Amino acid sequence: MIMKKEHLSRYWSAIILSLPFFSAHAQTIPLPPQWLNDAVFYQIYPQSFKDSDGDGIGDIPGIISKLDYLQWLGVNAIWLNPLFDSPFNDAGYDIRDFYKVAPRYGTNEDLVHLFQEAHKRRIKICLDLVPGHTSIDNKWFQASASADSNAYWNRFIWTNNDTLKPNDKFVLNSFPRKGTYMRNFFESQPAINYGFGKRNPSHPWEMSPMDPGPKANREELFHIIDYWMEKGADGFRVDMAASLIKNDPGYKETDKLWQEIRLRMQTKYPEGILLSEWGHPDESIRAGFTMDFLAQFGNSGYKQLFYNFDGHKIIDSAYFDLRGNGNPEVFAGYIQQQLRIIGQNGFICMPTDNHDRQRPRSGPRNTIGQLKCLMTLIFTIPTVPLVYYGDEIGMRFVEGLPEKEGSITVLNRAGSRTPMQWSSGANAGFSTAARDSLYLPIDRESCIPTVESEISDSFSLLHYTRTLVSLKKQVNAFKAGQPIQFLLAKNETYPLVYTRTDGKETYLVCINPSGKRCTFPYMAVTGKKTSVILKSGTVETMKDSQGVLQIGMGGVSSVVLRIN
Ligand code: NOJ
Repeated sequence: MIMKKEHLSRYWSAIILSLPFFSAHAQTIPLPPQWLNDAVFYQIYPQSFKDSDGDGIGDIPGIISKLDYLQWLGVNAIWLNPLFDSPFNDAGYDIRDFYKVAPRYGTNEDLVHLFQEAHKRRIKICLDLVPGHTSIDNKWFQASASADSNAYWNRFIWTNNDTLKPNDKFVLNSFPRKGTYMRNFFESQPAINYGFGKRNPSHPWEMSPMDPGPKANREELFHIIDYWMEKGADGFRVDMAASLIKNDPGYKETDKLWQEIRLRMQTKYPEGILLSEWGHPDESIRAGFTMDFLAQFGNSGYKQLFYNFDGHKIIDSAYFDLRGNGNPEVFAGYIQQQLRIIGQNGFICMPTDNHDRQRPRSGPRNTIGQLKCLMTLIFTIPTVPLVYYGDEIGMRFVEGLPEKEGSITVLNRAGSRTPMQWSSGANAGFSTAARDSLYLPIDRESCIPTVESEISDSFSLLHYTRTLVSLKKQVNAFKAGQPIQFLLAKNETYPLVYTRTDGKETYLVCINPSGKRCTFPYMAVTGKKTSVILKSGTVETMKDSQGVLQIGMGGVSSVVLRIN
């Protein structure tokens, strides 16, 4: 194992710095790459970003043609949803060939070209790693489904007999092999066999993670990572990261697996990252990930902040809602607790949303002012922000779209996957294809936001977001590693108020997404100067005779103040 000299000291300091919580793994896990501290991510759903060849589907040359825009916006890391060879039953999360770019997006050479062009602009590229399942069309799965035993027989989870009847986990197959196979998500996504944590003695198909089949899969997993990292990728977002080892109480075996992969990866690629779709940073960072998403599932309080009654996750009292009856307490408590637990061992990513859930602009949350409030939070808490493509211009969650590539009609994941709106040209500048051959329809709202129109409007959401991006990157107090103190985060109470400081500079952030006027008295200001760094909506600040800063906020407003 060869480690470059400049990384040795960080490696050892990680061992020393590791919190007791991580002590079981402190011997092995290095600190995460520090570029995450300055990172601002942008997520691209490749199907819908930019079509360069007029077939109605976005592609890699299209993405390359928009890198200058992303550089102008200031983002310095991109996560691309899977763009590998696939029958697209689940928008590419059903991979047929992990080593080949899907022809509709281009070639492996195009992807390498994207890495190079992005790097020229100081932008990192993270791919999507789907380690838990393949497509049913994958040749390894096809081999495992044959009647005769072969090298792939134990690479998937097959009951191998008819004693276990199909159920919601096990699918009856139409292949020569007897028995049922385990699915990971849709039936067309068979679970790769990494073994079981706790095995049922009467289920002979439940193997140990160290049995040859599971071990070969673990090796293949590292090989996929290595293959793309060698070509220039900077890391991976990892799909369903907690799902690999089945029936694994306390994630004991899952932790071992990911810690091994992380160590091997970061030893060879010290700046490489693994970003988990897990949604519990305390668990995922312990398992070896460098960063985890705050997700809609679990008890993070994320959905209480943002989900509106109009999306597929039905909550009728989001905090970011005009009615002003939401509750930010769960979120505030959770984020502080999680930051305390993970310490310097990892980062938390705060996304505007993603390809599975509703956009910030959905239902009655539809004005620029409301979206500016939401963006202010995303960029000023101690997390790594991620902008889902189009959220920077306020693209809408489009209701009622038909099923497309496994979008699931009732969930309407397609509603957040419509083509990027670039200009007032044909198909909003996304593609030159005929309208009816687009991947998904352009939003049919009469007046849609576009990059073109917002670039020329200095009050646009796009310019506001760009200012937040530079605040995040340039002001030390806003970096992911600096602390937060909530001064007001209470049920049905507005504004939301917190401070950020790096010990030298202090900033006060007040956000009022409700439609009602509200006030906040900031006491700790005696003898200090305050200056408004960024605001939206109506905000008045005035020191009263006791020296308290009285902050008056009109409905739907936000302000960032420097206190020094
Ligand atoms: C999570 C992905 O975000 C989602 O789009 C996909 O359908 C499932 N994992 C299955 O891979």
